[in-house]
Amino acid sequence: MSGTGSDLEVTMHTEEVYDPPEDFRANSEFNDPSVYARAEADPSGWWASWAEKLKWSEPWHQVLDWNAPWARWFVNGKLNVSENCLDRHVEAGNGGKVAYHWVGEDGAQRDITYAQLLDETSRIANVLKGLGVEPGDVVGIYLPMIPEAPAAMIACARIGAVHNVVFGGFSAEAVRERMVTSSAKVLITADATLRRGKPLPMKAALDEALAEMPSIEHVLVADRTGGEVTTPMTEGRDHWLRAAMADVTADCPPVPLDSEHPLFILYTSGSTASPKGILHTTGGYLTGVTATHKMIFDLKAETDVYWCAADIGWVTGHSYIVYGALANGATSVLYEGAPDYPHQGRFWEIIQEYKVTILYTAPTVIRSFIKWGREIPDGYDLSSLRLLGSVGEPINPRAWKWYRSVIGGERCPVVDTWWQTETGHAMIAPLPAITATKPGSATRPFPGISAAVVNHEGDIVEEGGGVLTLRRPWPGMARTLYGDDDRFVETYWTRWGRDVYDVGDAARIDEDGYIWILGRTDDVINVSGHRLSTMEVESALVGHKAVAEAAVIGKSDEQTGQAIVAFVTPEHDVEPDDELKASLSAHVADKIGKLARPKQIIWSDELPKTRSGKIMRRLLRDIAEGRELGDVTTLRDPSVVSLIGERVAAGDED
Ligand code: WT7
Repeated sequence: MSGTGSDLEVTMHTEEVYDPPEDFRANSEFNDPSVYARAEADPSGWWASWAEKLKWSEPWHQVLDWNAPWARWFVNGKLNVSENCLDRHVEAGNGGKVAYHWVGEDGAQRDITYAQLLDETSRIANVLKGLGVEPGDVVGIYLPMIPEAPAAMIACARIGAVHNVVFGGFSAEAVRERMVTSSAKVLITADATLRRGKPLPMKAALDEALAEMPSIEHVLVADRTGGEVTTPMTEGRDHWLRAAMADVTADCPPVPLDSEHPLFILYTSGSTASPKGILHTTGGYLTGVTATHKMIFDLKAETDVYWCAADIGWVTGHSYIVYGALANGATSVLYEGAPDYPHQGRFWEIIQEYKVTILYTAPTVIRSFIKWGREIPDGYDLSSLRLLGSVGEPINPRAWKWYRSVIGGERCPVVDTWWQTETGHAMIAPLPAITATKPGSATRPFPGISAAVVNHEGDIVEEGGGVLTLRRPWPGMARTLYGDDDRFVETYWTRWGRDVYDVGDAARIDEDGYIWILGRTDDVINVSGHRLSTMEVESALVGHKAVAEAAVIGKSDEQTGQAIVAFVTPEHDVEPDDELKASLSAHVADKIGKLARPKQIIWSDELPKTRSGKIMRRLLRDIAEGRELGDVTTLRDPSVVSLIGERVAAGDED
């Protein structure tokens, strides 16, 4: 191991190797190992070979214009993402093919063909046009996992509007912040979302916040419940989506757009309290998601039934439920509910019913399955499965092996795919027919991608631990942070120079060049594969009137990967009790969303601070993890540490 500091201590894993199953290899279109060398010899030519499979209205003049860190891919080319995702397949005679087998939380089912999706998308696009939406305008989308969600996204793409999807589990306040900072003009939402059989109002919950979203001129409301909940409608501003769609035609020609025209903004958490609006553009993004979706999942569009069990509100849903899957003409499952509602066999029931061949889910979900017992999946016919994928956080070898043997019956390759909202598409992942896999490793970079582990000095580590960097532009890369070029440069392209992307993950590279992702190195917490910022949660907590100060950290958690732990100093006249804990929790849910609620709140009269007054989160992490504490003499008041340590120990008992 070369040149790693103690904070980059690496975990050793057992290094079992699984070769690609012989049958799988024989039946794959991507079973030629020379692809890695070919792509490496000519990355531009490699990506261009994928871009050529798309439909362009005007050809590009240059594959890449790289003025680090600013990239333009397929320069001056023109295309439309929605035409590539829908019209192209319908024109090829595949209009009757199912794009989505939609399964509602309540068991409702609906198949949507490519032709139907094109019809709905075109109507929504016409509705948006009728409301004055023009190319470049931002449209907010806050919807449950219903067919209107992908249709609304692609409708934006059809007319060159930029969508800004907010995960349906986020709060009205989170929606407000994201709409205001992106100056969104229209917001598409629903009357309600279903949570464990009960409708949870969405539009009604947004109404108050809508008063503080001055840029929003119109709100379109999808009807999820058929009038079961109260939905306030403001005359002139709010419109029922179905009725508006019925009032327009399904004739809406796709607008040819510049390859670098913005496709979407997706806010994600960074190391400050304000979320970052990751901006993705058109030609490169579509090329990247198409290539990676096709190769990593070994997709056979004619026969596969593919299920990416993420939510459309995250980048995984954008890239692999919507754009990559549709561009490749796949048939997907679109599932609204949770893995354990109405029972813990829900996933297996769906796989059995639709004969799902490819399942793509998160380690935290796999760990739940393990906890619920193998008898549950054993009770279903899962023989249709031929490939399993994992995403969102490092997968522990035990979960990996369980997934492969219990769910995959030992015949399915497991593809662990490492990527980020910023990268747009998978970056480090096996090619299932040719890459031998090791449980817990995302294996090697996708062809054409250059990744390396570096030490504190920025030198490349051939074998050992360090931090991950990406060293060559790739087509789906974020182009900037919406409205904040400086923060983009500073966050990602400064630490190692303008032409090296700083990932923010610690990683280890082994003797075979396999990459093992170890987790974040910044103030980002990964709870069940969802990215949250310590600062965002802290700022929500200190916004509560009973709180004087708060520090938030991520602590390892067997189920969710990491869990949020908050150290809170109450105002001097406040008596901390369980009631206050509940109130803080509700407050965080209000400000951000339920997923940001701390798992543990620890009262602490003082927080450990350096003499200059900086909270030492690292020390709090060590305390919470029960680790040996290093030097605490730089602390303003070293006795704070032992006091907090006692509270943590006491807190662990409840
Ligand atoms: C962070 C990005 C990519 C879509 C979901 C998350 C972690 C993601 C893996 C993986 C180890 C992973 C990283 C990364 N991560 N996938 N296969 N193995 N870690 O997207 O919210 O932008 O989060 O998730 O820490 O930096 P995101």
